[in-house]
This record gives sequence, structure tokens and C-alpha cells, in this order.
Amino acid sequence: MTENAINQQKEQFLSLCRQYIKRAGIDELLAWLDTTDFYRAPSSTRFHLNEEGGLCRHVMNVFDTAMKIYKNCAEEPIAAGTSPFTKPVSEESIAIACLFHDLCKVGVYRRAEKFRKNDKGQWETYLSWEMQESFPIGHAEKSLMIVRKYMELNLDEALAIRWHMGMFDVGESGSFNRRAFYDATELSPLVCIVSSADFVASKCLEKTTEY
Ligand SMILES: [Fe+2]
Ligand SMILES: [Fe+2]
Repeated sequence: MTENAINQQKEQFLSLCRQYIKRAGIDELLAWLDTTDFYRAPSSTRFHLNEEGGLCRHVMNVFDTAMKIYKNCAEEPIAAGTSPFTKPVSEESIAIACLFHDLCKVGVYRRAEKFRKNDKGQWETYLSWEMQESFPIGHAEKSLMIVRKYMELNLDEALAIRWHMGMFDVGESGSFNRRAFYDATELSPLVCIVSSADFVASKCLEKTTEY
């Protein structure tokens, strides 16, 4: 991603935060993000948007997708009383959960030289990414801890961030985690909306960009 694109994305991210999030603590959270690699970090080492600026692009894609899912699929049944949920989800909650769901990825990716075989079967080096986690407390758990350092979260937002990995992070059948995930999906529509949006964005909208 070019320098220009990274700066444009940063502006886009900040304007989404300003437009949708009025919660106390947002200024402090954004000030902290400015001291980190958030706007330059990749979204993953080998998969979706593994390029500079990928993480910021990814969280905005998740937000955009979640808004579409909510507006097109969930808002009307909730308002009409045909959904198991009766309370509408606020746009602020969708923004907080989506834009901050992957803050655990801040400061963990580094550039690294790796080896691969080229077309002629010869080894060559290439520039890739590696992950160095200094606080391995769990992917979504870490995001939740970071956001909570700066702002209060309601039940929808906390559950949606904690379970944003959906079925990929629920453990064995019969485990406490799996039970907690199912319970969470029955307590807030935002759990399904954010985990679905994360899945759709990372699998259908975002390519592996570096090899
Ligand atoms: Fe994630
Ligand atoms: Fe994500």
C-alpha cells in the first residue's frame, strides 16, 4: 500500500470514529493508536491483507459489512417484533465493536526475511511478516482488554468483541467456551453480526496481497 493510501485510510478511519463514536475515552484511545503501528500494520502474516495498512483497511471493511448485515437483515425484524431480539443495536455499538475488534494485532507483526523455492527450484529470500506476541492472553480477549482500558463497553459491544472469531475460537464440543459463545449469541444480535462481518470481510473482500 502506498504512503498516500495509508494516510487516506487513516483519515477515513478517524472520520468514521468521529462520526459514529461519542463515547468517553475515544479521544484517549485514538491518541494511543497514534503511538502504535495500527495504521501501518498488516491484517495477518500470510492471509487476508497481509500488507502495510491491511489492519486498518480490514477493520473498516468489517464495519462496512456489519452495517450492511444489520441494515439489510436484522434491523427490520427487530423493529417488527419477529426477531428473538427486541432492542435495536446502535450504530455506535457496531462501530466500536468492528473498528476495535482486532486491536490485539497492534504491535505484533514484524517484517521478516523468509525463504522459498522459485520456479527453477532454487531457494530465494523474500520479505514477509512474522508475529511476535508479547502478551499471549488470547486473541479477542486481548482486544477486549485494550478497548476497556480506554472506554466503558455495554453488553453488546463486549460480547461482540470477545466472540468476533465466532466458531473459530470456541473450543471443543461441550467446552465452557462453546457454551459461552452460544449463550452470547442469544444475548446480543451484535455477536452474530460482527463475527459474520469479520468472516465475510476476511474471506470474500480481502485478498492475500503479499507472497
Ligand atoms: Fe480477529
Ligand atoms: Fe478481524
